[in-house]
Amino acid sequence: MAPQLITSLLLLLLLPLFFFPPSSANQTYNIVDYGGHAGRQALLNGPCRNNHIHIHIKGTIVAPSSYTSNEQWIMFKNVNGLTISGGLFDGRGQALWSCKTNSNNHNSCPNGSTSLTFAYCNNVRLNRLRSVNSEQFHISIYRSSNVKVRYITVSAPFNSPNTDGIHIEGSTNVAVLGCRIATGDDCISMGPGDTNIWIENIRCGPGHGISIGSLGYKNGQDGVQNVTVKNIHFTGTQNGFRIKTWAKPNNGFAQQILFHNASMNNVKNPIIIDQYYCPDHYNCPTESSGVQISDVTFRDVWGSSATETAVTLECSESRPCKGIVLQNIKLGYNGDGEVKMLCSNVHGRSSGLVIPPCCISE
Ligand SMILES: *[C@@H]1O[C@H](CO)[C@@H](O)[C@H](O)[C@H]1NC(C)=O
Ligand SMILES: *[C@@H]1O[C@H](CO)[C@@H](O)[C@H](O)[C@H]1NC(C)=O
Ligand SMILES: *[C@@H]1O[C@H](CO)[C@@H](O)[C@H](O)[C@H]1NC(C)=O
Ligand SMILES: *[C@@H]1O[C@H](CO)[C@@H](O)[C@H](O)[C@H]1NC(C)=O
Repeated sequence: MAPQLITSLLLLLLLPLFFFPPSSANQTYNIVDYGGHAGRQALLNGPCRNNHIHIHIKGTIVAPSSYTSNEQWIMFKNVNGLTISGGLFDGRGQALWSCKTNSNNHNSCPNGSTSLTFAYCNNVRLNRLRSVNSEQFHISIYRSSNVKVRYITVSAPFNSPNTDGIHIEGSTNVAVLGCRIATGDDCISMGPGDTNIWIENIRCGPGHGISIGSLGYKNGQDGVQNVTVKNIHFTGTQNGFRIKTWAKPNNGFAQQILFHNASMNNVKNPIIIDQYYCPDHYNCPTESSGVQISDVTFRDVWGSSATETAVTLECSESRPCKGIVLQNIKLGYNGDGEVKMLCSNVHGRSSGLVIPPCCISE
């Protein structure tokens, strides 16, 4: 499909809703008449006159096959009251992924575009849409509130770089329910400033699991608070439940987190807190994280680990983890050897049956 056609198709669906009252909603308008142009960027900027816009997508919206330096493909910004349902977004990320995986200098390729971004939006519902092969993240929810994502399907190959399924950052009151995510990076990732997040009934794999972080990259970033993740099925993922911070002195926090009821099927790190993230040990002067992790519970987690160390709790030397609770954990190792738990600088307790044997100190 030619780029013009692609963009027109998109805006043909959207423009009537943004520019005209509902009575004329079935008319079609050409994006080009409203400043649209071909390529990998469509910004749909609010605020809108209508206080709740419904977009029902029938068919597939296809990105151009080539990549650009645009970091968003389709972005909604400052919209209050938006429902999007149905449709398939095909990000055609293959050209960018091969740039990233084949080039010696990874930085010579652009970052890639996120397929669907919601920035500074409020009251958003995303229902039953599908996203495949995004260049970078599939869906990003940034500085938004009251967002409900339901029955979304995401898919990209296990080796496609940075193709997180749903990334949530700086947002509050976000629920993600009943989704199926297969991708090359995190199924769901939560960044600095997330509060009141609810994630339930997710099938994840392949991918890097459900992750809070990386936190502490910059100083003064907001913390993450009140996150519930429950009823998750992980298959063949790199991680299950993860909290990850940079090994930099920058402060911040992750607290009041509940990971509840997950089955692990051949997962490399079913449970992991890693406060030593620093690729190539570059620019991490103290190799110790300033992010405080506290009040984190892992409850009812069972299944198989693909490595001996099924549980890794490696906390910061300068800010040891507090209030870490393991309750009813039963993880086995598929290979030879005893299944293990690794602890450093971690305080809390265990209750019920915990396998591998718990190494948390009081
Ligand atoms: C919109 O227009 C199409 C084609 O003109 C028609 O088939 C369809 O029924 C209309 N939909 C509504 C909701 O009016
Ligand atoms: C990629 O993103 C990073 C972090 O947002 C930014 O610093 C960098 O300039 C971007 N690189 C390119 C090539 O756009
Ligand atoms: C935590 O977040 C949930 C929504 O995910 C909300 O219902 C609950 O009231 C929040 N709890 C606190 C103490 O803020
Ligand atoms: C636990 O999660 C699984 C999905 O992994 C779900 O099928 C099951 O119903 C959940 N159990 C309870 C008690 O909620």
